[in-house]
Amino acid sequence: MKGIILAGGMGTRLYPMTKVVSKQLLPIYDKPMIYYPLSVLMMGGIKDILVISTPNDLPLYRSLLADGQAWGISISYAEQPRPEGLAQAFIIGRDFVGDDDVCLILGDNLFYGVSFPKYLQEAISDNKGGTVFVYPVKDPWRYGVITMDKDGRPVDIQEKPEAPKSNYAVTGLYIYKNEVLDIASRIKPSARGELEISDVNKAFLSSDRLSVIRLGRGIAWMDTGTPEALLEASSFIRTLENRQGLKIACIEEVGYRMGYIGAAQMRALIDSLGDGEYSQYLGKVLKEDIY
Ligand code: DAU
Repeated sequence: MKGIILAGGMGTRLYPMTKVVSKQLLPIYDKPMIYYPLSVLMMGGIKDILVISTPNDLPLYRSLLADGQAWGISISYAEQPRPEGLAQAFIIGRDFVGDDDVCLILGDNLFYGVSFPKYLQEAISDNKGGTVFVYPVKDPWRYGVITMDKDGRPVDIQEKPEAPKSNYAVTGLYIYKNEVLDIASRIKPSARGELEISDVNKAFLSSDRLSVIRLGRGIAWMDTGTPEALLEASSFIRTLENRQGLKIACIEEVGYRMGYIGAAQMRALIDSLGDGEYSQYLGKVLKEDIY
């Protein structure tokens, strides 16, 4: 299973914050936003990851994440010259994905919950076609919205419907069999001129191979599309981290605990991160003061 993080877009809703910096590099409390989706893929057991961003921003991602070896993973990069839709990730990423299956995550989506890595790992091993994760929200019209029958089977998906038929939003995390590459190459731009991920999901739905995993109470899914949402996400992470003394989406810790890197490499990472609170935390992880 390969992983793709889509971290492009114009970020205009966050101007002027994103005038010169990519949205997915903005901090969510104590780390760059992209650490959150990156840690999700790592916790799902995915070690071969493509980061897609704009030609302007890609050098910044390269300089932040390099080749991923520091965390025991492999990171490659590809440009998306213009934001022409989420499904374009599979056109741009075609060679990278090769003959594998693929998991796409949006660079601005945050997931949190103790049971979440388990859901993801199970979904990856059970995936028969496409798998989406859905989440109840108060404002479904802002998202892809899924309608399900009484047994929880998907019936319909609509992208940003004016009159949503359910309150279940499709989150920005998708697992697909390799055929998604062909499906994405066949879909046509929508009325707003984008290759819609909802059209990809509809293709799996129409062949009855779309699985839906409902993320319920106890799991947090946040997007970061407005200054308000950005601040809320930071406050949420700060509250949990300060209360428990455990970090969320700390990719060094994830790499270490997943066994992608050993103690010597963790020590080297700590040395490279200065003497701030973040590296002190990693020192505690290494000494097993935190577990
Ligand atoms: O967050 C989940 C939602 O993401 C889903 O419910 C929707 O079905 C899906 O279409 C998408 O909706 P958004 O309105 O959030 O998409 P947006 O255009 O804001 O793009 C999401 C992120 O992906 C954003 O950080 C920018 C980036 N992006 C977007 C496009 C269209 C790219 O990197 N390239 C693109 O071409």
